Amino acid sequence: MSALWTSAEAAAATGGRAGGTWSANGVSIDTRTLQPGDLFFALIGERDGHDFVKAAIEKGAAAALVSKAVPGVDAAKLLVTGDTQAGLEALGRMARSRVNAGIAAITGSAGKTSTKEALRFVLGRQGTTHASEASYNNLWGVPLTLARMPQATKYGIFEIGMNHADEIRPLTRQVRPDVAMVTTVEAVHLAHFGSVEEIANAKAEIFEGLPQGGVAVINADNPHAARLAAAATRAGARVWTFGEKGAEARLASVSLGEASSEIEADILGSHLRFTYGAPGRHFVQNALGLLLVVKALGADVAAAAEALRGVRAAKGRGERVRIETVDGAFDLIDEAYNANPASMAAALAVLGSAKPGPGGRRIAVIGDMLELGPQSDVLHAGLAGAIAESGADLVFACGASMAHLWAQLPVSIRGAYAQASSDIASLVAADTRPGDVVMVKGSLGSRMALVVDALKARARELAAG
Ligand SMILES: Nc1ncnc2c1ncn2[C@@H]1O[C@H](COP(=O)(O)OP(=O)(O)O)[C@@H](O)[C@H]1O
Ligand SMILES: [Mg+2]
Repeated sequence: MSALWTSAEAAAATGGRAGGTWSANGVSIDTRTLQPGDLFFALIGERDGHDFVKAAIEKGAAAALVSKAVPGVDAAKLLVTGDTQAGLEALGRMARSRVNAGIAAITGSAGKTSTKEALRFVLGRQGTTHASEASYNNLWGVPLTLARMPQATKYGIFEIGMNHADEIRPLTRQVRPDVAMVTTVEAVHLAHFGSVEEIANAKAEIFEGLPQGGVAVINADNPHAARLAAAATRAGARVWTFGEKGAEARLASVSLGEASSEIEADILGSHLRFTYGAPGRHFVQNALGLLLVVKALGADVAAAAEALRGVRAAKGRGERVRIETVDGAFDLIDEAYNANPASMAAALAVLGSAKPGPGGRRIAVIGDMLELGPQSDVLHAGLAGAIAESGADLVFACGASMAHLWAQLPVSIRGAYAQASSDIASLVAADTRPGDVVMVKGSLGSRMALVVDALKARARELAAG
């Protein structure tokens, strides 16, 4: 296998000076996950990455890109540039320009990672596919993902995220996608935006990285579809829409199952029937857009649709885990990675479609949805309807904002409320019994993973006992 970057290529791309000759097989910005042979970038964030260069080289880094000499490190292992962040972006742009690949960029208020991973899964069966790791979607995640892209890539899938206006524009201009998809626009990050329309405008920046005639994939069922389409048209893109009202990908029928969904859709003239291997209406919606991305990349849409049967919800994003305990098994729906009103409603709907075993109950364990701004209390209280529709038998809640929902809940379904997830984790674990389906969700900062861990520990009791 040829190297990802030689010292000469990296120096030319970044305008830096290489002290020696080397070749790197990967790119790293964090010594904790660095692999031998990586090129390490000393980025300056909360900590100065230059403090970790020595450790990186000791761990086997091929070299380090730095903006100053590092005492105790062989200069032959250093590539010196003016600014390490700019160096990473320059290497990313070089990676982009040297591939002969179809490139997709995904943004949206929810579903970026799920859609990116599903695309990785289905396109990976059709050609060498490179995609963002985890949610590496920000000012370092995007150029890092670009810089890691092998020259032999056939399909590149990039997640792009934002918390503020003007963050997506520079990232999409680095990625230069052939197709850009906005999964959905929802009332999240309202702490940083005056209105949902402003959020839509910020998401629409993704189309500014498209070439003339590139494809903008837009959710036709979202109230902001027209605003996105207008922005895409202004950017010179072609607009393809998906959903019940979609023109290019139109949902004909859907049957939402407990573990998967059966979908019929018309995708650019072909009538397709396929199965999505994880439950939830939100994944059906994402899948329709995903197939338009596949089409825009010139890949086989029918084969991709068929492959969607094998997709599973990822950890923290709806992953279904059966937990065997001493007394019997219960099911966990792990949604602990993130939450906003849209994804909370989606997860509650999945809980509603789950069928508890004999004697089992539907249990919702929910923590605060963060960064919602002035509307936060109302948005939390507003979940009461979705809770009722889900048929939840029992609700555990935690966090200051969830107190507003708690006050709305019928007493008959109140499990327990606490300020912190650490205070309800053991209560939930103690109360869960065989046949139950337990859905755990909240923003990452609400630390609902502590509840997931406590539930999973019930299985370890079995192993120990
Ligand atoms: N189109 C959608 N609408 C609402 N919720 C969604 C959608 N797609 C995925 N979700 C849910 O949103 C949460 C975050 O999903 P993820 O794919 O990690 O999104 P992101 O990367 O945008 O944060 C998960 O609970 C997931 O099931
Ligand atoms: Mg993500």
